[in-house]
Amino acid sequence: MTVIAIDGPAAAGKGTLSRLIADAYGFHHLDTGLTYRAVAKAMIDAGLPFDNEAVAVRIARSIELAGLDRTVLSAHEIGEAASKIAVMPKLRKALVEAQRAFSRRNPGTVLDGRDIGTVVCPDAAAKLYVTASPEVRASRRYEEIVHNGGDTDFETVLADIRKRDARDMDRADSPLKPADNAYLIDTSEMSIEAAFQAAKTHIDAVLERE
Ligand code: DC
Repeated sequence: MTVIAIDGPAAAGKGTLSRLIADAYGFHHLDTGLTYRAVAKAMIDAGLPFDNEAVAVRIARSIELAGLDRTVLSAHEIGEAASKIAVMPKLRKALVEAQRAFSRRNPGTVLDGRDIGTVVCPDAAAKLYVTASPEVRASRRYEEIVHNGGDTDFETVLADIRKRDARDMDRADSPLKPADNAYLIDTSEMSIEAAFQAAKTHIDAVLERE
């Protein structure tokens, strides 16, 4: 069971990087943000308040990891709601169990999220912390929204990114932070190809030592 843990803030490029790494090593990939998003969407659809922990846990236990689809769960409101419900410890515990089960089920896995290296898989073979400045992340997110026909402005996107960072980094349970032995990749001035090469060099080195 070889696990590669990839953590970092929203819009740092960790999704793309995780998929490239999973492909390169022939590993299964779980985007754990989707697990929080799926619960958030179910709560929005049912008109439930975001602090109903008992129902959130029940929904979490019924989630089928294989069926998670980012295109259905990509909406900005779902991401915001996911970040809000993610403060509830019992919900986190239920989702962490499912995420660990995924890592145990497959011989090689890449898990990406906020707390993979610190909480979900602290014994991961390789841990990456992928980040970029708030301005760079906001500008990438802004381009993506406009490209997809959305209507917004850069300042709004930047304010949203800062709010999301604060919520994810300041929560009491499993806040976003680099694991002690994480390899840091700052993609602010790096192409995705360069980030991938840096990640691969690091992962090759740690897997070699195993
Ligand atoms: O990566 P994302 O934007 O899909 O994640 C949505 C939210 O879910 C994120 O803002 C916080 C929460 N999340 C979390 O708390 N822990 C994870 N491992 C993954 C996501």
